[in-house]
Amino acid sequence: MALNFKCVYIIVVALAITSAVDKGNFKSCEQSSFCRRLRNAKPQDADFVLNLDTLHVSDNAVEAELRNEEAEATFKFVLTSLHGNIFRVFIDEEKPLHSRYQVDGALNGELQVAKLEVLERDKEKVVVRSGDNKAVITAEPIRIEFFKNDVLVAVVNDKGLFNMEHLRPKASEGLVVKLGKFMRYLSIFSEGEAEHTKEDPGAWEENFKSHHDSKPRGPEAVGVDVTFPGALRIYGLPEHADKLALRTTQSGGLDPYRLYNLDVFEYEVDSTMALYGAIPVVYAHSDKNTVGAFWHNAAETWVDIGNSKDTNVVSSIVNLVSGHQPENTVDAHFMSESGVFDLFILMGPTPKDTVRQYASLTGVAPLPQYFALGYHQCRWNYNDEDDVINVVDNFDTNDLPVDVMWLDIEYTDGKKYFTWDPIKFAHPNAMISNLTSVGRKLVVIIDPHIKREGGYFLHEECLANDYYVKNKDGHVYEGWCWPGSSSYPDLLDPKVQDYYKGLYSLDKFHGTTSDVHIWNDMNEPSVFNGPEVTMPKDCKHYGNWEHRHIHNIYGLLYTKITYDGLIERSPDRRPFILTRSHFAGSQRYAAVWTGDNDAQWPHLQASFPMCLSEALGGMSFCGADVGGFFHNPDTELLQRWYQTGIWLPFYRAHAHIDTRRREPYLFAEDVRMRIRNALRLRYALLPLWYTLFREHETTGEPVIRPLFYVYPNDPNVVDVDNELLVGDRILARPVTEAGVSSVSVYLPGGANEFWYDVEDFKQYQGTGVITIPVTLDKNPAFYRGGSIIPRKDRPRRSSSLTHHDPYTLYIALDSNKSASGTLYIDDGQSFNYRNKKYLYLNFEFKDNTLTSSLIDKTDYPTDAWIERVVILGPPAGINKAKLNSKSLGTVSLETSYDGENRSLTVRKPGVNIREPFTLKLH
Ligand code: NOJ
Repeated sequence: MALNFKCVYIIVVALAITSAVDKGNFKSCEQSSFCRRLRNAKPQDADFVLNLDTLHVSDNAVEAELRNEEAEATFKFVLTSLHGNIFRVFIDEEKPLHSRYQVDGALNGELQVAKLEVLERDKEKVVVRSGDNKAVITAEPIRIEFFKNDVLVAVVNDKGLFNMEHLRPKASEGLVVKLGKFMRYLSIFSEGEAEHTKEDPGAWEENFKSHHDSKPRGPEAVGVDVTFPGALRIYGLPEHADKLALRTTQSGGLDPYRLYNLDVFEYEVDSTMALYGAIPVVYAHSDKNTVGAFWHNAAETWVDIGNSKDTNVVSSIVNLVSGHQPENTVDAHFMSESGVFDLFILMGPTPKDTVRQYASLTGVAPLPQYFALGYHQCRWNYNDEDDVINVVDNFDTNDLPVDVMWLDIEYTDGKKYFTWDPIKFAHPNAMISNLTSVGRKLVVIIDPHIKREGGYFLHEECLANDYYVKNKDGHVYEGWCWPGSSSYPDLLDPKVQDYYKGLYSLDKFHGTTSDVHIWNDMNEPSVFNGPEVTMPKDCKHYGNWEHRHIHNIYGLLYTKITYDGLIERSPDRRPFILTRSHFAGSQRYAAVWTGDNDAQWPHLQASFPMCLSEALGGMSFCGADVGGFFHNPDTELLQRWYQTGIWLPFYRAHAHIDTRRREPYLFAEDVRMRIRNALRLRYALLPLWYTLFREHETTGEPVIRPLFYVYPNDPNVVDVDNELLVGDRILARPVTEAGVSSVSVYLPGGANEFWYDVEDFKQYQGTGVITIPVTLDKNPAFYRGGSIIPRKDRPRRSSSLTHHDPYTLYIALDSNKSASGTLYIDDGQSFNYRNKKYLYLNFEFKDNTLTSSLIDKTDYPTDAWIERVVILGPPAGINKAKLNSKSLGTVSLETSYDGENRSLTVRKPGVNIREPFTLKLH
């Protein structure tokens, strides 16, 4: 009999009200054979040597044989230099018993190699240069030092933890298998056996709880350490509910950061446990330079982090006394269960360069539709069509803007995706028209598990065409998810990809239109009765790969298929997709959210570092469930969440099925008003958000940025993660603490950097920590002096209704009384912008004159005009303004000075936004 999983889930939720994540459901490093093997290794175990007699150098690559003499295993080592200051180190077995998996889908097309020049070579080392980057490759043991402008910035295998377990037959009587020193060290787990057969007991098969992993290929782990001399902090490795700056895991009893896409029920914050996404990139940073490492591997991975500030406490005290301060170092030890060795070193030297180097490898997020940056209203679940319409009606009557309504799993006919509940959602087209009549959209959920029910077209077609993932014995794999017994599409199979794309076509997915967008959930994949709530690692995919080899890209493949399907369905609409599982490269297809958070203050606090970390990992389009998914927030927390959420790129409220309704109109007027104010500020700033998304697409720069990214030379900001910068124009420090009457804000930049409170324009200097008094109405945020912020200040019901609305330009002057800023405009929905149908404007204010000009020679017709220019920190003695443009000629304009707010407003410049103009103040 099929279990009712919703009931089980509700019971579990009820039980969990007082408890947090059940850690016993997930492995620790010690419980994972390969993590144990690699983590417990000692540096002296490294016995991999480059044979420089076999060295071959070409214009852009250094190749040589790499030997593990004791194991009698030979590997091929290749170092290449890539365009844009990147090195790649690639190692595979010379003649593997089975092929090792090389990730397919994360990199964004062909990489461009750059020229390498050999500076030195002898039997012990080779030195190569590419631009101002240098690599010194030492043979015994293999070790690579990377220099930027002759400064050592990264060392691969500094600690001697490089290891690549060669694939081999299982040792049996009469068969001697050489393991090498590395594995011999691990023999402590099987004392007493003959030396050559001593292996970790989990090397060839492994049990976890009631689950058995058959490991048909045996051990095949790969790992290495990378040291970053001089670095103060190391960031990256989303997704973890942790601080932005990664903590030291090598001491202090913390497990390494785990990258294994998992559906972790009631995850806890301040944790290195795995979550839904895995992006194996780190950035090591100091106030002098930044350098990154991208570990291109799709298997389960653990990363140990070291920081000399935490590990050398005794020597620090000695140094303090002796006055000698050695430089700080950080390091990362990557450990993966399988795959080739494929490591990219991003040579920096600034955070911006390094993040852009990562973007040059894995791509950028394409410009979303304008609506996608508006407010999204979700809950599990809106019960029926009337419920949906009623909710938007209430938003309208309460003057609360909303762009998108969402439907969770209950809209389907019995959790069968690509179908509608025949009673509750019998007329989807009428419901959708109601939404789209004021420019709103609908998002519906589509999960990868497929209900195994006779008569369900998807199941029958997948079965008939052999599209499902197989278990270790070659039969269709069966797991449990929302619908009960389910099977999972084999996304590696090109036939499945083609078939699945087609499911989104309007004649296949009846009731949908081009205004319906997609939410891909549970795509880790989540399997309720699987090991660690996912698919067994020995399941089999197309190409004879085991699930273990590709686990972390299953979600990436799923969203790529959705993206391609939506493009095929509606070729002139930019798809909007939200995904839970993600990997390096997912940004090319989908936005991401931080999954099932909790209505608790620490979860609100975690939303900033989590999304900042995602943004550094390429996933700028990130948000957290506003209000918290589990449990019921009190009104203070709910208001603060709405106020905080406006500063994250994806802004959606969502709630568990078992929570009370919490749409903002349900609360008393004071609460409603604060939420309305937050929503209105978000909508007013949409022109800025949209511009930043476009700039992300063209440059790879993140939409939201940690302080260290914009102020890399300030060592005081390396741990700040309760603040973020929207582009480089707004610094947000929302209130994320309960019951406070003031908050501390770090304003960076020094005495010459001006900051203006977004609400009352009060001016501050960037000289460090200030205290801001707060009430429930206050959401502290500051315009950076020197920036121009385009806004649309007229409140509307949805973002598309603002399309032709006029702009207000906020000009926040710096200490030289200057400012600049860009604005990007297009139709907000189609791909016409790729055919030059857009406007990209530059505004420059200096010598009391604002000048607007086109950056690109393009055009986009619009009725939008400039209704106001507000100057913050204006020069004294100004009371007149003169506008000059081609169509209007010279016009005198009124100005008004607000002494209390120290701002000068020029009313109704009236010029169309696409027309170049000057506005002179005098
Ligand atoms: C898990 C998702 O994280 C959550 O947002 C969703 O509501 C439930 N699945 C039900 O689909």
